[in-house]
Amino acid sequence: MTAPSAATTHKGDAIEVNVGLGDRAYDVVIGRGLLASLGERVARLRPGAKVVIVTDATVAKYHLAATQAALKGMSAEPVIVPAGESTKSFAMLDKVCGAVIGARIERGDLVVALGGGVVGDLAGFAASVVRRGVDFVQVPTTLLAQVDSSVGGKTGINTAHGKNLVGAFHQPILVIADTALLDTLPEREFRAGYAEVVKYGLLGDREFFEWLEVNWRDVFKGGPARGNTAAPREYAVRKSVEAKAEIVRRDERETGDRMLLNLGHTFGHAFEAAAGFSDRLLHGEAVGLGMALAFEFSARRGLIPQAEADRAIRHLAEVGLPTHIKDVPGTFALDTLMDLIAQDKKVTRGALTFILVRGIGASFVTRDVEAAEVRAFLAEKLS
Ligand code: NAD
Ligand code: GLY
Repeated sequence: MTAPSAATTHKGDAIEVNVGLGDRAYDVVIGRGLLASLGERVARLRPGAKVVIVTDATVAKYHLAATQAALKGMSAEPVIVPAGESTKSFAMLDKVCGAVIGARIERGDLVVALGGGVVGDLAGFAASVVRRGVDFVQVPTTLLAQVDSSVGGKTGINTAHGKNLVGAFHQPILVIADTALLDTLPEREFRAGYAEVVKYGLLGDREFFEWLEVNWRDVFKGGPARGNTAAPREYAVRKSVEAKAEIVRRDERETGDRMLLNLGHTFGHAFEAAAGFSDRLLHGEAVGLGMALAFEFSARRGLIPQAEADRAIRHLAEVGLPTHIKDVPGTFALDTLMDLIAQDKKVTRGALTFILVRGIGASFVTRDVEAAEVRAFLAEKLS
């Protein structure tokens, strides 16, 4: 295990990772049972603030009452949206904005996003536009949201043209990643979130990847620290958040290094969209498949030995993520996938932008990928 980065501090059982963005810097607080401290932490940052809690129906069932209890003494109205990707829509944005305005949330008050990436992206976007921007706090309840979507300020919704095409950069003022909330998460969702954890190893930290190869079962299981060794789940969340915070600090607006976080996403988004943003292929599963394809494609281009690609793919498969197109139920049409890849926002003036690898932990951005090369590769994988 490696030592925490300079931006990380330990306060009791809580690990605090600071996202160093100057006057918009904020802490991501990680630990079991932290939800109970939400009210106290919010009051410290915004004394006397009114709060609207945005959550989805499933998360509300498990965690809304505890969140309201944690905000004791504060006005904290809930707005509950349906669970699922289709909630990242104009209709739900309208609903959330209406509820936030109706609750008389002003500058100085707060929106709390209690949920996975869907709720975080939607509530964060609503917070960015209501009254030209109110503050928000992320309380991520999925592994994916704790290690990725709650950190870094990307917010938004989907449109008929594709995923995340309408949105804004709007940083939260605080993220509370209570790892105990993950105990109610279905295993399939946990595994999908794990794809984003292993992504940090694959894109820039070989040592972390090797640690995950050995310890992933304990990350899934959860549980306490062992002697002087940090608890595996909390360690994996901390390492992921540190990696993301460092990249976001360097490149908040994704003009350079932040693109590395899209490892697996160009292929992944195409499959996710072609599968109709449905249970057929969850977002994190699509990222897992996309990363396997990105490693395979890198080997095909002679960037890495096939054995190195196989090692990365083996780990993804071992945890149960899809690594071959045939692992996803149903069929995919090559033309549809190519149209979706061409439409993806990672296309700059017609050239396909891909994140490829020179090894495990050594990713890079390339803009020299021809559509014909991708087409031939996918045609072979589909056959
Ligand atoms: P999600 O928000 O849809 O949550 C997955 C499912 O788990 C939902 O049905 C939800 O109701 C349920 N759930 C959530 N927490 C639970 C809990 N603790 N117990 C039981 N059930 C729970 O999906 P997600 O995987 O968290 O997020 C995916 C979304 O995140 C996608 O829209 C993706 O585009 C977005 N995303 C955004 C960023 C970003 O930087 N903003 C990064 C990665 C992904
Ligand atoms: N999940 C990609 C990013 O935040 O940039």
